[in-house]
Amino acid sequence: MVSYRPRRSTLAVPGSSQKFIDKARSLNPDALFLDLEDACAPAAKADGRVNVVKALNEGGFGDTTRVVRINDWTTEWTYRDVVDVVSGAGANLDCLMLPKVQSAAQVQALDLLVTQIEKAEGLEVGRIGFEIQIENAKGLLAVNEIAAASPRNETLIFGPADFMASIQMKSLVVGEQPDGYDVGDAYHHILMTLLMAARAHDLQVIDGPYLAIKDLDGLRRVAGRSAALGFDGKWALHPTQVDIVNDIFSPRQADYDHAENILDAYDWCTSVEGGARGAAMLGDEMIDEASRKMALVISAKGRAAGM
Ligand code: GLV
Ligand code: MG
Repeated sequence: MVSYRPRRSTLAVPGSSQKFIDKARSLNPDALFLDLEDACAPAAKADGRVNVVKALNEGGFGDTTRVVRINDWTTEWTYRDVVDVVSGAGANLDCLMLPKVQSAAQVQALDLLVTQIEKAEGLEVGRIGFEIQIENAKGLLAVNEIAAASPRNETLIFGPADFMASIQMKSLVVGEQPDGYDVGDAYHHILMTLLMAARAHDLQVIDGPYLAIKDLDGLRRVAGRSAALGFDGKWALHPTQVDIVNDIFSPRQADYDHAENILDAYDWCTSVEGGARGAAMLGDEMIDEASRKMALVISAKGRAAGM
């Protein structure tokens, strides 16, 4: 079992806004990203980089995982984002988030660049991880190669807003079902494909933003869908979304307790009779190696959530 950083909630913070960065320091999301991409206007990119480097070096984010979202490789900003942020604050940065990824080559290019900067700056090579946003049809079709493209990869992230634009979905309400599609979940194929690619490569998989920040029931419903499938977390665009998302992506207490009981019972059963028993009873429930694996997942998520 891979030991993951907890990522139930990932708070989006505009990299050019001192006010939002200060506010983020008072919250306790599992992760946050300082955004140099879509929340940072083209004219503010250069100042945004300076601001992000300063914020990382000043710290104050507690044990929250610190991520910077750089611009995608089709823009003119990416290389400068990486050079400035990693050379300026590499020791205080946990991951880079690469948006709109379309090919394995884009991940490999980022890996080569980051490796060079780490060597040049005397940083530990390979420590900075990658968070990979899949936000268009090309990215989804290449997701298996993308997921395998670098040992730095830690998560795949669904970007619903850009994805809806990319596939020309007939809706502007991000994450909600498009009107007229009443035969199931219009996102099921995308979410499941990301989940499969992530699990096949031992990565986490994160659901993106829910834009209607006042509609907390809507957030619960949409987050509940990806949580039920097995996703590890979701973005939060506003402080009020953080606790809800943390709650939805934590195991229920009863499930966590049950998982720990399964692990205890399984340990006991494999310790008696020279380990020859393959299955045990927990109350009326038969538990075996597959039950143990399911229990390990819930237990690891619960422990990461501080249960
Ligand atoms: C996030 O980046 C999205 O496009 O939904
Ligand atoms: Mg996007």
